[in-house]
Amino acid sequence: MSGPRRVVVASGNAGKLRELCALLEDFGADLVPQSALGVAEAEESGNSFEANALIKARNASRCTGLPAIADDSGLEVDALDGAPGVLSARYAGGDAGDEDNIDKLLTNLAGVDASARTARFVCVMVYVENAEDRAPVICRGIWEGRILETTRGDSGFGYDPLFFVPSEGMTAAELDPERKNALSHRGKALRALKRALRSRYA
Ligand code: IMP
Repeated sequence: MSGPRRVVVASGNAGKLRELCALLEDFGADLVPQSALGVAEAEESGNSFEANALIKARNASRCTGLPAIADDSGLEVDALDGAPGVLSARYAGGDAGDEDNIDKLLTNLAGVDASARTARFVCVMVYVENAEDRAPVICRGIWEGRILETTRGDSGFGYDPLFFVPSEGMTAAELDPERKNALSHRGKALRALKRALRSRYA
C-alpha cells in the first residue's frame, strides 16, 4: 500500500494505540499519538458517535497537518432509549469512574425485565486525510448483548462486567482479551477501517 507515512491518532489511550498499531501494521504508516505532538483533546460536543469521532480526527489533523484516525464508542441500552450513548464515559457526571457509571445504569434499569435489557456497544472509527477532507472514511462496529442485574468478571473496562454476550454465555469482563477483540464493536470497526484504507490506497 502507498498511503501516508505518518498518521496522528486522536487518542492518548495506550491500549487503543497498541490495538491500532497491530491492526494497521501492513498499512505501513507510523501511528503517532496526538499527545506526542502537543495536540489538546477536542471537546466531544456532537450528538452521535460519528460526529464526535470526526470532531476529534479533524482537530488532530488541523493541529498537525497530518492525516488522522479517531474513534468514539459507547453503550446503547434499548430500555433507556439508547442512553448512555455518546455520554457513556460521563454518564454519572464529568468525574465519574466506571463503578459510578455502572451504579447509575443499574439504578436506571431497576425493575426492567431480563428480556427487555437488550443493549449494544457501538464503535465508530474515522480517518481523514486532512482537516477539511470531504470524503472521510467512516466505519461502524456493533456488538449486541444484554445488561445483567449484577456485575460478573474483572477484565476489560467500562461497562464490560454488566454486558452479557449470549453467544459466549459470559460477560465481556469474563472473556479473554483476544476473544473480546474478535467479537467486539471496536475490533469490527478497526477491521472495517483497515479494509477501507486498503481500498483507498490500493
Ligand atoms: P471512548 O470511546 O473511549 O470515549 O469510550 C466511551 C465509553 O464507552 C467508555 O468510557 C466506556 O464507558 C464505554 N465503552 C466503550 N467501549 C467499551 C467496551 O469495550 N467495554 C466497556 N465499556 C466500553
